[in-house]
Amino acid sequence: MNNVKLDLQYTQIEDSEILKYGKQVKKLHDKLHKNTNGKMPVGWLTLPCSINDELLNDIKDCSEKIKKMSEIFIVIGIGGSYLGARAVIDSLTSNYYNELAGETRKTPQIFYVGNNISPDYISDLIELIGTRDVCVNVISKSGTTTEPAISFRIFRELLENKYGIEEAKKRIFVTTDSKKGALKILAEQQGYKTFIIPEDIGGRYSVLTPVGLLPVAVAGINIDKIIEGARFAQEKYNDDSLKYNDCYKYAVARNILYEREKNIEMLVNYEPKLHYIGEWWKQLFGESEGKDDKGIFPSAADFTTDLHSMGQYIQEGRKNIFETIVNVKQSNSDLEIKPDEDNLDKLNYLVSKKLSYINAKAMEGTIKAHVEGGVPNILISIEKLNEETLGQLIYFFELSCAMSGSILGVNPFDQPGVEKYKKNMFELLGKNS
Ligand code: PA5
Repeated sequence: MNNVKLDLQYTQIEDSEILKYGKQVKKLHDKLHKNTNGKMPVGWLTLPCSINDELLNDIKDCSEKIKKMSEIFIVIGIGGSYLGARAVIDSLTSNYYNELAGETRKTPQIFYVGNNISPDYISDLIELIGTRDVCVNVISKSGTTTEPAISFRIFRELLENKYGIEEAKKRIFVTTDSKKGALKILAEQQGYKTFIIPEDIGGRYSVLTPVGLLPVAVAGINIDKIIEGARFAQEKYNDDSLKYNDCYKYAVARNILYEREKNIEMLVNYEPKLHYIGEWWKQLFGESEGKDDKGIFPSAADFTTDLHSMGQYIQEGRKNIFETIVNVKQSNSDLEIKPDEDNLDKLNYLVSKKLSYINAKAMEGTIKAHVEGGVPNILISIEKLNEETLGQLIYFFELSCAMSGSILGVNPFDQPGVEKYKKNMFELLGKNS
């Protein structure tokens, strides 16, 4: 299997500086893996090798039913309960997935709600559904998050009105905690098909559980291969030696740059399909590290698009940014620049050049400019964008995030700050308990 490759040559970080963290990393690796008090939610560490075929088959069977029953599949969830699925689906399907004709796509259109409280956003989707057939997957670990709960109430009613209570039950799929939460109670009462989110896996680390896998399977993506990629990564990055573990090297490099006052990291791609990988990654690192007045601020950009909006700041603004590029070496398709007799656009110098080649040169030129401008660049490369490489990349980022937060000295598995806005909102809305 092709590996995820880490390249630190554009960071001005010497190997010797990385290796100074060797002892600390070994200790933290042990701490994560041994989880001696059993209190750290690190189930995701061993999930790829321990997930069983029974569960994978259940997810696949269920996704087949959903595909047969629906033209539109609605994923209800927020934060870790939808970003991973969306990231994988966007990365591995057509850039125009939802716009494709049904017979070409062969799977339902997918829409995401419950990730905001905008009435227009929800009303527009209801209008779009019209007379078409729908299934819903509501995903919430706590089962009490306001945004998805509101959307679920609305779409449950829509389904019950559209199909009647009994048929609606067959079209509602729940992914939640095994024991607690309002959603669990409701699912039991109504008899909805339910998938369990393991107790020891937090929201932002849950993409390889049914949280991510069910929507991903509905999109026609091979979930076995994703797990295979993640399994490969689990074995590969189970090495406590910093010398050989690129995943831990990335975690250390981030901390070294942070020590050098680079407190903003921008995850950059040159493939628009990876936009939601950036969104997922932002949540993973932001919620894991941003606490105790510490942490790198995670941001993301789509290049070359954002070079025409953010490029100026990155090149010449405050020097507190570094970039991490997710570089896909081979595109899945290609186009060639053809000669044009008039050459009014002055592009004939590119004749016979492939777009993939031009895109790669844009990346090289940008790295050179940004590095010269004082913006270190970390390069994370995958050969091709497919199920296996994405499975690896997901595991790579999850583990590097846990390690990076641990080096920083914060708890990478909690998010106490997220509660603050909720408390205020509930008070303003007059919630009693
Ligand atoms: O990473 C996390 O734990 C959070 O971002 C949650 O995923 C998010 O708040 C949604 O929570 P829940 O799945 O409980 O609705």
